[in-house]
Amino acid sequence: MLNFILWLRAFINGLVYRFVLKPLIFLWAPEVAHNKLKIFGKALSSNALGRSFLKLMFFYQNKRLNTVVDGVHYKNPVGLSAGFDKDGELTDAYPALGFGFAELGSITGEVCPGNPGVGRRLFRMLKSKSILVWYGLNNQGAIKVAERLRGKKFQIPIGINAAKSNLSAHFELEDSIADYVKTVKAFDGIGDYYTINISCPNTQDCEPFVDKDNLDALLKALNEVRAKDRPMYLKFAADLSETELNVIVDACLEHGIEGVVLTNLAKPEFNKEFIKEELTFHSGAMSGLPLQRIATSVVRHVYRRSRGKLTIVGVGGIFNADDAYEKITSGANLVEMITGMIFDGPQVMGEINRGLVKLLEKDGFSSIEEAVGSRNPLPDLKKG
Ligand SMILES: Cc1cc2nc3c(=O)[nH]c(=O)nc-3n(C[C@H](O)[C@H](O)[C@H](O)COP(=O)(O)O)c2cc1C
Repeated sequence: MLNFILWLRAFINGLVYRFVLKPLIFLWAPEVAHNKLKIFGKALSSNALGRSFLKLMFFYQNKRLNTVVDGVHYKNPVGLSAGFDKDGELTDAYPALGFGFAELGSITGEVCPGNPGVGRRLFRMLKSKSILVWYGLNNQGAIKVAERLRGKKFQIPIGINAAKSNLSAHFELEDSIADYVKTVKAFDGIGDYYTINISCPNTQDCEPFVDKDNLDALLKALNEVRAKDRPMYLKFAADLSETELNVIVDACLEHGIEGVVLTNLAKPEFNKEFIKEELTFHSGAMSGLPLQRIATSVVRHVYRRSRGKLTIVGVGGIFNADDAYEKITSGANLVEMITGMIFDGPQVMGEINRGLVKLLEKDGFSSIEEAVGSRNPLPDLKKG
């Protein structure tokens, strides 16, 4: 009976979103809609009544989804991915919406206005189920965001996603490392895990930390300043070669980095799984469905390369429970999403969690941990 009520609630919420809210929201330009939704979400979640309303409409929990990853306790494995809440303004809304955790940012050491063209840096690709993103790391900077969040009691685990300020096209190794270090230090004592984002597809100086020497220097510096009581993950691009992936995975293992977030957006020149006519802006990188298969194959490769020793947060094109389960059974311990929520509505997180419970049951697993990597068996090294 309870299951039927939950299904009905999600069904009605889905219809309301699809036929009423989404057509209205999509009347605004995407960046305008993003800003307005944040203002609305902030207002709604800033008082107990609003939070109770959100909870009544969207919340779902089931003990079977509880999972512990690197010592952090999650009520469910479905989190908000970085980029929706760059300045950490909506942390009170996420638990009520049914998220198991939320990753804030990317946050940079310096205040960062992002790429030019404010108001026109996001593009919806409706048929491709994707968003083309050209933000370029706009955020208020580590000090201001940390000040706002210091001392706040979060109800779910919070990830702090740190990136390098996108202020110059000229790459300087020491300055860039100092920028990451500034954010990590500013967030000492705030949040539950760090993500170091070395994969900003929209920045002026590209992705210099794919280089082994640069990456070694960065990870060494971060290890000296990071809080030892919380895990650090590395987030990287979808469009790396196998050799580049291997270099990064091996560096993570070598430097004691606990895990990886896979993946960031994919550039259109690499990713061909979208409808060409929808690509009207020729910079930026894509989220959603065009990224789904690519991100999963990176999860599969990294899980095997690291022999399951790295925590994997799988992200890219998760719209339903099957998509989330595919990432988990490929090797992801946790999953994240943005585009699915924007295209299909805020009831999706609860539906994914409800669906995950059924999929675990169907496969005879009693926990998420048991399912991790179950469809991506590690090769027996002895057989060579
Ligand atoms: C509007 C938008 C902004 C994003 N900004 C960031 C960011 O600042 N840092 C980051 O690590 N990833 C960022 N991403 C990438 C997402 O975190 C995620 O990796 C990607 O969107 C794939 O997930 P999805 O298909 O569920 O959206 C952004 C994505 C979107 C859609």
